[in-house]
Amino acid sequence: MIELILSLDIDEEKKIKEIINITEKYVNWYKIGMIPFIKFGPSIIEYLKNKNKKIFLDLKFFDIPNTVASASKIVFEYNIDMFNIHLLSGEKVIESVLNEREKFKNKCSIIGVTLLTSFSDKDINQIGINKSLKEEIIFLANLAYKNKLNGIVCSANDLEFLRPMFPCPFIMVCPGIRIAEIPDDHQRVGSIKQSVSLGADFVVIGRPIINNPNPINIVQEIIQQLKQ
Ligand code: C5P
Repeated sequence: MIELILSLDIDEEKKIKEIINITEKYVNWYKIGMIPFIKFGPSIIEYLKNKNKKIFLDLKFFDIPNTVASASKIVFEYNIDMFNIHLLSGEKVIESVLNEREKFKNKCSIIGVTLLTSFSDKDINQIGINKSLKEEIIFLANLAYKNKLNGIVCSANDLEFLRPMFPCPFIMVCPGIRIAEIPDDHQRVGSIKQSVSLGADFVVIGRPIINNPNPINIVQEIIQQLKQ
């Protein structure tokens, strides 16, 4: 079944622990992105590991191959379950992280970010990419697939064309999911229904849960929808 990854974009110790503690009964996967990692460092990974939770470390590595490979080595020591790199960092970086994983015989899944869900066609043209958003996303997803990464991060909107091109077990992780009609900073929001019917493996959801006055209710509602 498609799983929920709860995105812990929180910088207050009391609040992050509270969200983990009240949701742990329902949630198996948590995402540690740059906000909690910069604030709490590896201690937040330890906190989740002590609760036997699965961890997606979302630091979106984007650097030269040697730096990314050396940083990946530290990630493997944490013994987490999934981390990501930007596919725009290219084939040499992909190769370097896969080699590092092979050396350490680590089982951590490594996935690639296609294009951020905050990007529109206009935004990518502004940074000098002269393809359409869709063409660039397919190009980057193919880069991940042919170089044998475990999967990609993509918008639920993109699953319609990506899933038929890149079949399971290639992992598709979809952030930018909205339950109500508030897009926040995403240009391309998706729904749970779309993610389920079009073949996502994971949905990543943060603010709709952590900013909700009743996080447990919304988590239960999401899990119910994921089962349908
Ligand atoms: O609060 P929200 O549900 O928008 O959180 C989405 C999370 O997913 C954020 O932590 C954001 O950094 C991450 N994200 C991502 N890749 C994208 C879009 C969002 O990892 N393309």
